[in-house]
Amino acid sequence: MCGITARVGDDEALDELLTSLTNLEYRGYDSAGVALLDEDLEVCKREGETDALKRAVAEEEPSGSIGIGHTRWSTHGPPSDANAHPHTGCEGRVAVVHNGIIENYESLRTELRSRGHEFTSETDTEVVPHLVEERLTAGHDPEVAFREAVACLEGSFAIALVVEGDETVYATRKGSPLVVGLGDDANYLASDIPAFLEFTDRVVYLEDDDVAVVRPDGVDITGLDGAPLRRESHTVDWAPGDAEKSGYNHYMLKEINEQPFALRQAIEGRTDPAAGEVVLGDLPAGTFEEIDRVQFVACGTSYHASLYGVALLQRRGVPAAAALASEFAADPTPVDGSTLVVAVTQSGETADTLAAIREIEDTDARTLAVTNVVGSTAAREVDDAVFIRAGPEIGVAATKTFSSQVATLGLLAERLHVEAGDGESFDAAFLEGLERIPEAVDQILDRRRAEQVAEAYAGMDSYFFIGRGIGYPVALEGALKFKEITYEHAEGFAAGELKHGPLALVTGTSVVFAIFTGENDEKTLHNVQEVKSRGAPVIAVAPESTTGIHTVADDVIEVPDGPPELSGMLSNVVLQLLSYHAAELRGRPIDKPRNLAKSVTVE
Ligand code: M6R
Repeated sequence: MCGITARVGDDEALDELLTSLTNLEYRGYDSAGVALLDEDLEVCKREGETDALKRAVAEEEPSGSIGIGHTRWSTHGPPSDANAHPHTGCEGRVAVVHNGIIENYESLRTELRSRGHEFTSETDTEVVPHLVEERLTAGHDPEVAFREAVACLEGSFAIALVVEGDETVYATRKGSPLVVGLGDDANYLASDIPAFLEFTDRVVYLEDDDVAVVRPDGVDITGLDGAPLRRESHTVDWAPGDAEKSGYNHYMLKEINEQPFALRQAIEGRTDPAAGEVVLGDLPAGTFEEIDRVQFVACGTSYHASLYGVALLQRRGVPAAAALASEFAADPTPVDGSTLVVAVTQSGETADTLAAIREIEDTDARTLAVTNVVGSTAAREVDDAVFIRAGPEIGVAATKTFSSQVATLGLLAERLHVEAGDGESFDAAFLEGLERIPEAVDQILDRRRAEQVAEAYAGMDSYFFIGRGIGYPVALEGALKFKEITYEHAEGFAAGELKHGPLALVTGTSVVFAIFTGENDEKTLHNVQEVKSRGAPVIAVAPESTTGIHTVADDVIEVPDGPPELSGMLSNVVLQLLSYHAAELRGRPIDKPRNLAKSVTVE
């Protein structure tokens, strides 16, 4: 949801600013812009991806050593040059970039209009430069003007602002991410670390209501009231290359192929099947002794990983449920001191997931974030955090992070089995199976079956995915990935539910992908037969040793044998490849599917 960036140094800022914006495009790509400050403040912005902006700056040649930039995912007003950020006030002395939603913008606009201000965009953002400009006109210095303007705003936002004649960027956040980067030659600000990772790996995570005053020679952080705050700097362990395409046509394909490595990182040092140990972050043995049940909250792919986690926990005698975080506030599950609420979120910034955690903050429930981003809001707002260690994921379609989430939830399930469930010791076969998963994923990546199947079934009207048990969340995730990047009609169902309604959709022009896991396969085979007799071709995704499917399914994509509980992780990789190749055949913008953004920071 919109990417903000800033570069504050003594030399020309434009090139690095454009690099940062390109790195941030996964957060939004319907328009982009920069404001550069030297003696004058120059703004250049365009509808479209950052390439359109790059063409515009080549013509207009804005320059300056202090710069802010923005890539937009529209909320208020359609994509257009006028609605693109940065926004300025009536006098063009102030430029602002913003991520999030200013909820009281309409009343602020009305007030500002009554005082003679004119607006040129439909955005909520534009009130900010006008509010600041009024205060500058009243004689306040820029920092005071900024603080006073921010105090008028309601909603969730991250804002960066420059004022003519002042070699500083002022920034604040409330409910939207913002990170400071401390470089040798310049200092940076961004919604997300990959924006400036190639320039510095030293970061300071801002917290809500922090005000950062970023100058070429340093950064001061204070509260909204101006009181100085100490925020520690951290060195991130992501390498710049982690956020690059490294020769792949798309980030998605790169990230699919990174899964063996990412999975090894998720597991490494956390299991010792021989000693019967599962180490999770800083959570000492016995952490979960008081826990009776687990409530997951998550969205999208992370919700599907949570459903996988539910299955793993229930099988270990730990009652568990998953709620869509976007529904949780409307209908919160009752929780108490014996509930572990687990927020599963790649970014750690998903507004719906954060709202769900905040919904239960006044209860005694223990909260845990399973996230990829150290320093993210989710990681900071919960009691404990466990990191999935997948490295940066840039493609909008989540791939490696699903696998790493499931692996991490598998470890969590083992801990809870022993500490909160009826387990006397860790399940060595499961843990050994988990350690072999990276190798099994490698084998899948070496095969081309998914690509062949994507081609063979390219002309169908609908794509259905069915699975049972562990196969069910995989079917949901397979359908999400397929629709998200191919724009084809795709749906996932519990295999047994087909005959309760969805079967009406199945015809000879729909294709059904059936996930087999080695558990309850006979039942899934019956469902396949129901589908076959309605004329739909069926593709089975199944462990190599599965029997009885080759004579029934039109095609079979095999995955290596292993513990049934882990088989879904392998089928999921097959479905990721299927979606990728199907989208490639259709010429879709795979890393930036229409209307979607990587990090959904509005509710
Ligand atoms: O960052 P999160 O895991 O909280 O994001 C939740 C969803 O927006 C996300 O999983 C989304 O569904 C995927 N990008 C889809 O591929």
